[in-house]
Amino acid sequence: MNATMRRNGYRADALIETLHTIQESFGFLDDVSLRFVADALRVAPSQVYGVATFYHFFNLKPQGKHVCSVCTGTACYIKGAGKILDAIKEQHGIEPGQTTPDGELSLLTVRCVGACGLAPAVVFDGQVIGNQDVEQTQARIEGWISHANS
Ligand code: FES
Repeated sequence: MNATMRRNGYRADALIETLHTIQESFGFLDDVSLRFVADALRVAPSQVYGVATFYHFFNLKPQGKHVCSVCTGTACYIKGAGKILDAIKEQHGIEPGQTTPDGELSLLTVRCVGACGLAPAVVFDGQVIGNQDVEQTQARIEGWISHANS
C-alpha cells in the first residue's frame, strides 16, 4: 500500500513537472501535448487534463497569437539573452508572462531549452532558433506582426 502510494506520489510529481517544462517552452498546453504526456507517463488522459485544469498556473491555450520565449538559462544569459529580452519588453511594452493588448504576441522566458551550444536561443512559436541577437529576434517578431496587419 505504502509502495503504491509512493509510486503514485512520484507519478503526480512527474506529471506536474513535465507539464511545467512543456509550458515553459511553449507557453501553453494543448491537446497534443497533454496526450503525449499521458502516453509517456502512462497515466489516463483524464488525469493529465484534470491536473492541467486544476492548477491555475497552467495555461491551456496560448494567450497571444504568437509566442516568443527567450531562454534565460546560464549559457544564453552570458551570450546576451538579457539584451534580447529587454529589447522585446521595451518595444512591445510587455513583461514575461504578458500578451500585447492586440493579442498578437505573448512573451515568455524559459530556463534552458537544451540548445546551449547555440546560445542565445529563442523559441518562436515552439521552434527553437539559436545564435539570436536583438536585431534577428526583433525582425522575426516584426514579421509576425506586419503579416497580421497586411
Ligand atoms: S541555457 Fe539557453 S539553451 Fe541552455
